Amino acid sequence: MRRWLAPLPLFALLAGCPGFGDKTLAELEGITDVPTWHADVQPIIAGYCQPCHRQPPTGGASFALLTLDQVRDHADRIRVRAVQLGDMPPGGGGLPDAEKATLDAWIAGGMPEGLPTGPEPDMAVVADMGAPVDMGAPVDMGPTVDMGPVTLTWDADISPIIAESCAVPSCHGANPPTGGLNLTTYAGFVAGGFSGVVHGNGDVDQALILMRLNAVNGFSLMPLGGPSLDGTKIDLIEAWIAAGFPEN
Ligand code: HEC
Repeated sequence: MRRWLAPLPLFALLAGCPGFGDKTLAELEGITDVPTWHADVQPIIAGYCQPCHRQPPTGGASFALLTLDQVRDHADRIRVRAVQLGDMPPGGGGLPDAEKATLDAWIAGGMPEGLPTGPEPDMAVVADMGAPVDMGAPVDMGPTVDMGPVTLTWDADISPIIAESCAVPSCHGANPPTGGLNLTTYAGFVAGGFSGVVHGNGDVDQALILMRLNAVNGFSLMPLGGPSLDGTKIDLIEAWIAAGFPEN
């Protein structure tokens, strides 16, 4: 009894093979992977065909089927004779069904060579790649500089901006300073002026100094009369306030 419920996977590939009803021969034989020359086909050819299709051919055969290329060259007629007609090898009804199916699936699947079976390759030989290539000494890139996290400070980053634009003698550098806000020192910045602290306690949305520098929330622009500080400087001050406005 044939296996009519054999698995289907590969056999869209094999459609069009006549002579086996709805099923391909491979389906009937339950073949689900494309066979390969080394693993599957070469042993069949050696056992059933090479007794005559050798070099020189004997038994009335006129060509050899010793190599993969020779078999590929004759694939169409091999399929007709050994699979479809089933009269090759001659006498005795041809190949058994399983071998026919293997041959058919292999031809339909593109006749892949696959990996050689046989003894393991000698790894000592394979591994000998010759002497290692001398790439020369690695280029010395010098010591790696650890930048660490960048910390903005009053002393290094903010005070120079403030000194240039705000803590000038006519304004927040005067004595007494404009608005009671002395920006010549860190202590003066922290203390704030008549309107209270200007740093918003680290909340950039509450920091009066930023509202003045950006002229938002109804506050007039600082520096008074403009021009405003450039955006990079305002960004620095904002980031410094957000980071808790450290002195150094
Ligand atoms: C006993 C000897 C013998 C064996 C074994 C044998 N053949 Fe042949 N083969 C012949 C002879 C004789 C011919 C030429 C006469 C003919 O075509 O029938 C031939 C011809 C062929 C041809 C050409 C026929 C054509 O229609 O173009 C193919 C293809 C072929 N054999 C394939 C095979 C395959 C595949 C096998 C093994 C599965 C095989 N043969 C086994 C003797 C053999």
